[in-house]
Amino acid sequence: AVEETLVLVKPDGVARKLSGEIIRRIEAKGYSVVDLRMVQPERSRLEQHYAEHQGKPFYEPLVAFMLEGPVVAIRVAGDRVIEGFRVLAGTTDPTLAAPGTIRGDFGRDWGLAVQQNLVHGSDSVESAQRELGLWFD
Ligand code: CMP
Repeated sequence: AVEETLVLVKPDGVARKLSGEIIRRIEAKGYSVVDLRMVQPERSRLEQHYAEHQGKPFYEPLVAFMLEGPVVAIRVAGDRVIEGFRVLAGTTDPTLAAPGTIRGDFGRDWGLAVQQNLVHGSDSVESAQRELGLWFD
């Protein structure tokens, strides 16, 4: 079925000027960019976005990292795009992500408290709806 997902180019991806490359890969796979904006997120938006991780050891470093600079929020549509983008992104740990994926090709561990892993992608239809509502009006 046609789905929509939220992709975020995280502050490390924007700072490393990978936004274009990430959008290129999304489009090369055949998915459609239907909306896009650059945002400097506020803490409250990140707390809602990462509500499920509250209390985990990496939560505070994660929010602090996401506040470091602007993110690019992208509404992406396509058949099975929620799963499909997560395959394009690669696994959470960029050291272990397979080459050929965004995280595998451009990410690695930098010895920091948080996984700086370049992109976020919604993990289910429910999260996608919730997250798209949070990042797009
Ligand atoms: P993402 O899966 O997009 O959303 C949660 C984020 O938390 C994840 O990307 C990483 O950036 C970060 N994260 C998840 N697990 C860990 C971990 N074990 N240690 C540090 N950061 C993590």
